[in-house]
Amino acid sequence: MDQTNKTLVTDAAKAAASIPSAQGTTGSNPLVAPSTDRPRILVVANQKGGVGKTTTAINLGTALAAVGERVLIVDLDPQGNASTGLGITTAERKVSAYDVLIGAALIEDAVVPTKVPGLDIVPSTMDLLGAELELATVQRRSHRLRDALARMPRNGKQRETSEAEKAMTARPYSYLLIDCPPSLNLLTINAMTAADAILVPLQCEFFALEGLSQLLRTVERVKTSLNPRLEIQGIVLTMFDQRNKLSDQVASDVRTHLGDKVYRTVIPRNVRISEAPSYGKPALVYDHRCAGSKAYMRLAAEMIQRERAIRRSAA
Ligand SMILES: Nc1ncnc2c1ncn2[C@@H]1O[C@H](COP(=O)(O)OP(=O)(O)OP(=O)(O)O)[C@@H](O)[C@H]1O
Ligand SMILES: [Mg+2]
Repeated sequence: MDQTNKTLVTDAAKAAASIPSAQGTTGSNPLVAPSTDRPRILVVANQKGGVGKTTTAINLGTALAAVGERVLIVDLDPQGNASTGLGITTAERKVSAYDVLIGAALIEDAVVPTKVPGLDIVPSTMDLLGAELELATVQRRSHRLRDALARMPRNGKQRETSEAEKAMTARPYSYLLIDCPPSLNLLTINAMTAADAILVPLQCEFFALEGLSQLLRTVERVKTSLNPRLEIQGIVLTMFDQRNKLSDQVASDVRTHLGDKVYRTVIPRNVRISEAPSYGKPALVYDHRCAGSKAYMRLAAEMIQRERAIRRSAA
């Protein structure tokens, strides 16, 4: 583990210790979720554009990897911002999420390792723009990603050919994070159909709640007709500006409406977060001491606490 990651783990552990529900957990590291035989699949979605979906997927993925989880991000947005933000070049996108969705490639052949140890990505290309139309007449078109993930090797019993596949079976993923486009289109429906839970970034702005009810109705519809296991993991307030009274008001409104579904951690507006993607690095690697990075580490700790509670109640 290099110095950046060592510091990340220490900082993340401190962050976890500062979260009330993480205190008093005995016998194990509060940050590390118990492993199960299959990864937890979380979809990061909100049909509103520019609310922090990609930033959350990248930095949460990095924070989870920094505390020893094995993480795969699936970039399901034709804009490909998660891929670019993680420094994936065009040459590394020969096999992409599009190929996986249309059935031209296996997911393990699309996986590209990132510079963050333990964090891989299935990159996206603009080809995804055509996927909706191409899949329109295909059977189980909402289940394409779910079916592809179900075929993903995880226990070494399946065929082992590529290096990526060997790496995958040697140490299986504990978390899959799916980054969605700003739309409730077939790509987002595929992600929701494949997922265990949804994580919704909500920007602290005047119209924050606008559109949220539509998103939650879509979650309910997917739950009823496509994926009964889909739950809301949590809602994360992003781009909080403490100098702006409106941010405070929006945050308290959202908490009043959505109660404990809203994470205690709030992501502040922070210039270092917006600079990081242009260097092809997560903010947590670009500047792990900035307020935004620290907030994402606290979010990861809080999310893992929720995951533990979910697993405890399921056991
Ligand atoms: N906490 C933050 N502080 C400052 N800038 C931020 C923060 N979070 C995200 N940004 C910036 O805001 C812009 C939108 O963020 P991001 O790309 O994560 O949103 P998104 O919801 O994925 O957008 P899209 O809907 O287009 O996919 C980006 O330029 C990003 O760098
Ligand atoms: Mg995005």
